[in-house]
Amino acid sequence: MDQHIKFDLTNTLSSNCLNGIAQNELNSLFPRLSFALMSVLTARKRKDIGFIDLPANDKLINRILKFAKSRSGLEDVLVLGIGGSALGFMALFEALCHPRHNLLSPEQRKGIPRIHVLDNVDPERIQAILSMINPKSTLVLVISKSGSTAETAAQFLAIYKFMSSHLAVEDSIKHFIAVTDTDPAKSILHDIALKTGIATFPIPQNVGGRFSVLSAVGLLPAALAGIDVKELCQGAIDANERNLSDKVIKNPALNLAGFHYLHYLAGRRIAVMMPYCDGLFRTADWFRQLWAESLGKVFNRKNEIINIGPTPIAALGATDQHSQVQLYMEGPNDKFYTFLLVDKFRNDLEIPKPMPKAIRSYGYLAGHTFGQLINFEARATIAALKTMGKPSMNIEMDRLNARNLGYLLQTLMTATAFAGELFDINAFDQPGVELGKRFTYSMMGRKGYESEAKALMAKPKMKLLI
Ligand code: PA5
Repeated sequence: MDQHIKFDLTNTLSSNCLNGIAQNELNSLFPRLSFALMSVLTARKRKDIGFIDLPANDKLINRILKFAKSRSGLEDVLVLGIGGSALGFMALFEALCHPRHNLLSPEQRKGIPRIHVLDNVDPERIQAILSMINPKSTLVLVISKSGSTAETAAQFLAIYKFMSSHLAVEDSIKHFIAVTDTDPAKSILHDIALKTGIATFPIPQNVGGRFSVLSAVGLLPAALAGIDVKELCQGAIDANERNLSDKVIKNPALNLAGFHYLHYLAGRRIAVMMPYCDGLFRTADWFRQLWAESLGKVFNRKNEIINIGPTPIAALGATDQHSQVQLYMEGPNDKFYTFLLVDKFRNDLEIPKPMPKAIRSYGYLAGHTFGQLINFEARATIAALKTMGKPSMNIEMDRLNARNLGYLLQTLMTATAFAGELFDINAFDQPGVELGKRFTYSMMGRKGYESEAKALMAKPKMKLLI
C-alpha cells in the first residue's frame, strides 16, 4: 500500500540542506516521539479521541451509502456549515470530483447533483446560490457539531424559510438532514431536528470539527457527490497501520510532527504547505485550519502561559512561484515547507509543437506534458530552496485518488495529535474560537451573553479613527 504515497524527508536534515536538522538532534527527539505515540494511543483507548477509528466504522459508512443511493435524482445538494464542518468536505470535493463539476450538464455529471458549500455568511453568495436551485430537487445538509454556531444557524434559518416558502412544511422537512452531536442537551440542532422531524446523522462526541472529515461530516456529502467513501476510508485505515506503529523512524505522522516541531524550535515558525496540483489546494487549506486551531494555544498542559503555535500557510504551485516564492527564497529563514506532489495526473495533456516559425522558441516545451511541466517546476522550486539552505519535505502520491487522499488526511490528523504532545498542549480544544463565538452571540442579542456585551461596549481609552 505504502508505495503509493511516499514521504521524502531528505531535505529536512542538515546533511542535505544548510538549515536542516542535525541527525543527533533528531535522535535525541526519539524518546519524546515514542512517548507522544503512547499518549495518543492511550487517549484513543480511553475514547478521549475518536478520529483514528472513524474510517473503520462500517456500520455508519454503509448507512451513508444506502442513504445516498435512496436520494438519487437530486439536482442540488446544499451543505451548510463552517470551519471543521465544511473544510474537510471541500478538500474531498476539490480533489476527487471534476474540477468544474457544477458546470457540467446532468448527463455529464451522471446523475450526481451539483454541490454547494456555503461556508460563510456573505449575503451575496447565499442569495446567488438560492437563485440557482430548485427546492423540489434540493437536499440541504446542516452540519454543526455544537449545533449552536451562529453562521450555520443563520444559514439554516435562511434556507429553511426559502424551502418552506416553496414547499409544504411537512415536505420541506424531508429536504433537510442534520449532522450533529447526538446529545440534544449539547446540540440545539439535534434538539431542533427531534422536534421538527429532520433526520440526523451523528458526530461522535470525541471527534472535534477539524478532525471530523471521515465522520458523517465529510462522508455524507462525499457519498452524495459520488466519491468512493470506502476507498477513502481504506486509505485512512492503511495510514493508521504505519502511523500507529512504534517503528519511529518509519512512522510518517511521527516524522511529520517531529520535523515540524524541531524546525519550529529552530525559529522556522511558519509552516508552508504547497501542493503542485490544483486538486490539492483545498487540502492545504483544510490543513491550515487543522494545524492552526489545534496547535495555536496560550497554555500548556501544566497551565503555564506559553503562547505557542506554528503559522500555517497554504500556497499553490506553480501559481505561487509567481507570487510567494521570491519571499520564500530570499526572505527570512522562518519557514518550513511541505510540498505535495502527484506523479501521474488523471487526465494529462501534451504540450503541442508550435506551428508558426515565429513561435519556434517555445519548441523546448513541445512533447512534454503539462503534468511533467508542473512536476519539473516543483522539483525546481525544491532544489532552488535547498540551494538557499531552506529545508523542506515532500509528500508524493502516485495518483490523486480516494485511497491516497484518505491516507494523506489521516496522516496529517495523526501528525497534529502527535505535535500537540510535543508542544505539550491540548490539540483538541479551541478556546480562542469559542470566545469569538460568544462575542458574536452577544452582539446579535443572544440571551445569556450579557456580560460579553458589556465588555464589548466598554469605551476604548483613546479612539483612533482616521
Ligand atoms: O474545528 C473546530 O472545532 C471548529 O473549526 C468548528 O468546526 C467550527 O467552529 C464549527 O463548529 P460547529 O461544527 O460546532 O458548528
